[in-house]
Parts: sequence; C-alpha cells; structure tokens
Amino acid sequence: MFAYRHLYHAGNFADVFKHMLLTQLICVLQKKEKPIFVLDTHAGVGRYDLSHPWAQKNKEYEFGVSRLFGSTNYPIEVSKYMDFLKEENPSGSFAFYPGSPIIISKLLRMQDRAFCVEANKNDFEVLGEVVAGNRRVTAKLGDGFNSLQSMLPPKERRGLIFMDPAFDQKGEYDRIVASFTTGLRKFATGIYVAWFPLSNQFPVRDFYQKLTALSVKRTISFEFDIDDENFIGQMRSCGLVILNCPYLFEESVYPALRWLCGVFSQQGSATFKTRLLVDGNSDNLTC
Ligand SMILES: C[S@@+](CC[C@H](N)C(=O)[O-])C[C@H]1O[C@@H](n2cnc3c(N)ncnc32)[C@H](O)[C@@H]1O
Repeated sequence: MFAYRHLYHAGNFADVFKHMLLTQLICVLQKKEKPIFVLDTHAGVGRYDLSHPWAQKNKEYEFGVSRLFGSTNYPIEVSKYMDFLKEENPSGSFAFYPGSPIIISKLLRMQDRAFCVEANKNDFEVLGEVVAGNRRVTAKLGDGFNSLQSMLPPKERRGLIFMDPAFDQKGEYDRIVASFTTGLRKFATGIYVAWFPLSNQFPVRDFYQKLTALSVKRTISFEFDIDDENFIGQMRSCGLVILNCPYLFEESVYPALRWLCGVFSQQGSATFKTRLLVDGNSDNLTC
C-alpha cells in the first residue's frame, strides 16, 4: 500500500535543495571521463504537472521552485539545474517540475547508466514513459531499499546511490542505514546519498549516530533550514547526507547554497550548515 504521492509536494524548497545538490554531485563525478552508474532508489514519476489538483492543494512549489523560475542572477554552479527548469517549460510559464529521474537522465553521458526504482505501480508506469526516450536509463518496479542488494556493485565501479524515501512510514531512517550497510559491503567505494526531513519529531540524532558508526570516510550532512513561520508545510528543514563525499564537493556547492538562502529568506532567516560526521580518516565524529 502506497498512500504517498510526491505530486503534493513537488517543487517545494526541499526538492530544490536536494535536486541542486544531486545535479552538482553528478557533475563533479563526471569530471573524469570514466563511466558512472546512478541508482535512484525512490524515483517517483519523473515529471510533475504543477497544475494538477494535488499540486494545487497546498501549492508547495510557490515557496519553492516558483521563487527561482525566471531568475537570471544566479551563480554558475546553479546553471545546469536552472537550465533543466527552462527545458521542461519551454513556453516560459512554469508548469512542469523535473524530478530526480529527469535530472539524472539529462545529465548522463553516452558512457553512463542509471536505474530508477519505484515501488508504486501507478507511479512506476508513468515513470517508465518519462524515461523511455533514454536507453541509458532503466525504470524498475520494486523496493528501493532492497535494490542495493541486487544492483550493486555496478560494472562501472564508479557511481552514486540516491535514496529519497517518502518518510511516511516509521523506521525509514533505519531502513536507509540498513540498506547502505548492505550496499557498502558490495560496493565500498560508492557514493551514498540520502535525503531526510529535519525537525524535532524525527529521530535525526540517532540517524547521525548510526551513519557515523558505518565509518565511511567523508560522511557529510548538508542541512537546509528555511525557518519561515508563514510557510504552510510542516517541514521547515531537511538534510542530505553523503557518504564517500567527493573531495572539494562542499566548496563547489557553497555558492549555490548561499544563493538559495537568499532566495528563501525572510530577513536572512534561511540557513545552511554542513556537519562532518566522519572525516577523511574515517574515525572522527564532529556532530
Ligand atoms: C520523495 S518521493 C521521490 C521523489 C523523487 N526522488 C524525485 O526527486 O523526484 C518518494 C517516492 O518513493 C516511492 N516509494 C515509497 N516506498 C518505496 C520503496 N520501498 N521503494 C521504492 N520506492 C518507494 C513513493 O511512491 C514515492 O514516489
């Protein structure tokens, strides 16, 4: 049973944050010619029609991608993501938000490959149509947490696992950790990425401790907080944790994150923070 529908939230501030970082991460990996593999474990439908009644219910995209669309004054590090928004909306008025499968699909080079896993059969069918034009991307119906067992290690031996669960069920933080543990046994050098909500009701401290215990070098959490009381959604902050984070990745995303804070700030209220959970020597906890 899957009640969660991402269309209710598509294009909100959390999507913008996670997709900007995902885009930059893939670009950093592609600095080398060698092929990469991307596993998108919770893919969703791929493309979100923001005029749909579900998206219109809370209009979360208004405090999200709508604030960026049409902007011209952005740092170069954001330009790929901004291009994707424009390409999805060639008429110039904003209607479609590109989810992770589209972003990944657009970034893949000839030599790269991706698998996008979705557990909801209806969403999977839409996803299949969305990625059908790109033979380097395969949509798969199944459980994203378990997919690491069957799909790793990739033959490319380089790549990233992007895990973006719905967090509508208990225990999803632990499922991320368990799934990463399985993945790391099979593909120790992979880059493991997970998005998560950050607020008092979620057990993030415990999540951080369990991730730290995995002792994967350069485990870094990027946290983004909009701190805006006028925001309709329940969640005002979220994070993206990266294990085996590429060197200098932080520096490459700071301009984008600083800019995003300006975009979402009421009097400078939006902030970002980086937490180094495990450093390059794989044994330092700093949270
Ligand atoms: C937050 S949305 C994903 C959004 C997508 N990653 C994006 O950025 O565009 C979470 C998705 O995971 C799907 N889902 C829920 N449980 C799952 C599971 N165990 N395995 C794979 N997908 C699952 C939901 O149906 C939903 O489409």
